Amino acid sequence: MTKACAPGKIILLGEHAVVYGRPALAVPVRQVQACARIEPAGDGAPGGVLLVSAGTALHAWLDELPAEHPLAAICRATLAALATREFAPLRLSIESTIPVASGLGSSAAVSVAVARALNQHFDGSLRDGDISDLAYEVERIHHGTPSGIDNTVVSFDRPVLFQRGERPVPLAIGGTFTFLIADTGIAAPTAEAVGLVRQRWSADPARLEAAFDEIAAIVLDGRRALQDGDHHALGQAMRRNHGALVGLGVSSVELDRLVQAAEASGALGAKMSGGGMGGHMIALVGAPERDAVAASLNAAGAASLLRSEVGP
Ligand code: MEV
Repeated sequence: MTKACAPGKIILLGEHAVVYGRPALAVPVRQVQACARIEPAGDGAPGGVLLVSAGTALHAWLDELPAEHPLAAICRATLAALATREFAPLRLSIESTIPVASGLGSSAAVSVAVARALNQHFDGSLRDGDISDLAYEVERIHHGTPSGIDNTVVSFDRPVLFQRGERPVPLAIGGTFTFLIADTGIAAPTAEAVGLVRQRWSADPARLEAAFDEIAAIVLDGRRALQDGDHHALGQAMRRNHGALVGLGVSSVELDRLVQAAEASGALGAKMSGGGMGGHMIALVGAPERDAVAASLNAAGAASLLRSEVGP
């Protein structure tokens, strides 16, 4: 039996603008994960892969699934990259604790877990960067024009500064930062939010490009704050970034309510995270305010709450 897992992720700063070439900061969230397990299938033709996912009620042989099926696509692409020869039939089962369509990188984590498991099973030599590239192609099926940040942070499993077309830069972190991650409970596919921003960009490219430049400046301020261990400066960057995302039209009543609840109860900063229009928000908290902010998020309707630490 072979098993491999991949973490969820949050975008600290820079979502959406990152699709248009600006930098963004993302960190893995290991409290949630997707795992893929490979075992002998028992029956089936040589070279067959039985794909099983209880979460999506999938139980099908790989060769029965269409090219654009995300799980089939990551399996086929990984098997091709590994140049596998004929093998005894396999059962590949996927389990994930990452909520789907909620900004935590569920689709990228599933792809990375599957590619890692196949790589291990066949003693392959695929590296994190190769696995990230394979997962990127599947992200394109999910939402057309992904920046590549989700597959990158999930594959490398470390905090990164990401910019399209550049090698991801590992983030230097000069202190311990605690984030509360709250779910609005509203599923919102990234494709819809990215599509909305695309429409707005087509209607008024100058305004949107200026907003992306503003977000890029916030990201660089946030990077410095992380490096310096400066909690107040990072909180400030998160507040400014949320304001810019509201301006892009990708926040929602529920996200804004949670952001306001966090800030009113002492969070240093809070913002939506990921595609938006639902999904998750994040709040940066100091130790003294942590419990009050958590209680306030619960009272404001958070469907679930995670705590994640980012440190040196
Ligand atoms: C999704 O986690 C982040 C977005 O910027 C989309 C992308 O970068 O592909 C909204």
